[in-house]
Amino acid sequence: MKDLTPPKGSLDPIETASRDEIAALQLERMTWSLRHAYDNVPFYRAKFDAAGVHPDDLKTLADLARFPFTVKTDLRDNYPFGLFAVPRDRIVRIHGSSGTTGKPTVVGYTKNDIDIWAAMVARSMRASGTRPGDIVHVAYGYGLFTGGLGAHYGAERLGCTVVPVSGGMTERQVTLIEDFGASTIMVTPSYMLNILEQYRAMGLDPAQSPLQVGIFGAEPWTNKMRAEVETAFDMHAVDIYGLSEIMGPGVANECVETKDGLHIWEDHFYPEIIDPETGAVLPDGELGELVFTTLTKEGLPIIRYRTRDLTRLLPGTARTMRRMEKITGRSDDMIILRGVNVFPTQIEEQVLRTAGLAPHFQIELYRKGPMDRMRVHVESLPDAVDGAAAQAAELKKHIHDVVGVSAEIAVARPGSVARSQGKAQRVIDNRGA
Ligand code: DLL
Repeated sequence: MKDLTPPKGSLDPIETASRDEIAALQLERMTWSLRHAYDNVPFYRAKFDAAGVHPDDLKTLADLARFPFTVKTDLRDNYPFGLFAVPRDRIVRIHGSSGTTGKPTVVGYTKNDIDIWAAMVARSMRASGTRPGDIVHVAYGYGLFTGGLGAHYGAERLGCTVVPVSGGMTERQVTLIEDFGASTIMVTPSYMLNILEQYRAMGLDPAQSPLQVGIFGAEPWTNKMRAEVETAFDMHAVDIYGLSEIMGPGVANECVETKDGLHIWEDHFYPEIIDPETGAVLPDGELGELVFTTLTKEGLPIIRYRTRDLTRLLPGTARTMRRMEKITGRSDDMIILRGVNVFPTQIEEQVLRTAGLAPHFQIELYRKGPMDRMRVHVESLPDAVDGAAAQAAELKKHIHDVVGVSAEIAVARPGSVARSQGKAQRVIDNRGA
């Protein structure tokens, strides 16, 4: 893999500013954002008033803890445009997050918001090792989902040649990467595994592909998965994080030279970690729920949004801005199996370390009598189908020893586990069936 560390002079000055400079900018912007929300969104005014706080009460960054949280249902309750802080005709773009239950969560952006978003994705891509002039293959879905268009505008802003492929038609993805010579791909990690499989099915050596950088996000993935993809493609695999309520992709990103967690672009997004039970703010370094306050968003300012994502805040390394640890999972995805907490990422690690298994998996939950049970669906690699029984025994042992639960393992024929087309569905819950 090539050293793709961006030249120092190419960074935004704030990326290497002192902590004092960053904090001063944050306080100034946070003051603006709280006022903007309070003055222009009846929902925030009512909520702050009910909690007995006013934007003027913010004297230090720590005072933010006195303000109430915003949660996903607040966006649903104000569907579609109730939380917008500017007249509707100043909103130039709408996105929405996939409402698994009917209505999506709607977000809106002013021209300035779109501009800042493009700049943050461009910053993320530069941190990932992408350079102006590179060909960028975007396989995140285009549409209401923020992945495709978010990546697209960022790549254009950085000065790249964008190939807006969106998701699906995997064979065509491979053909276009090869024919156009894309050096960066932006896609979910689970769909990248699909692309990898397609390379092999077409008799192509992925290590010979033109790809040098993969910018993977929108779902949790592990360092084991990073190793799998980096080795197969001989490329850098870098983590990008974001959520539509806060903006979309580009809220935080790893740096290619360190790959040690994601630097949060703290000049626009203020992070806190809270105890998910009590709501108390936890000190940096402790594991808890990630909460974000937007500092510059005009269309949809968000104050203390509870993401449900679990991580911890760490000091800066390659940049002065703080990092968040690679996400373990969402509290919504946590499986509680006979008292033990299990995240799909823990199962992913064990599947990937089991010899002879393909990296695709799904977790099925079901009930037998009063007991919840877990069945892990995996499949053998095409050249290892004879070893299915040994693979099942090995995976079962790894899950038992490392994760601490007993799971049933179903090893199927190559190609039988459902392939991801975007965000992978890791858990099938049949407990109500
Ligand atoms: O997934 C935005 C995005 C697009 C991020 C492309 C990165 C790349 P939503 O659909 O609103 O937005 O889903 C947001 O996805 O709260 C996390 O639970 C999860 N997520 C996003 N990035 C990561 C990541 C986009 N790098 C939700 N690691 C978030 C783990 C992630 N989980």
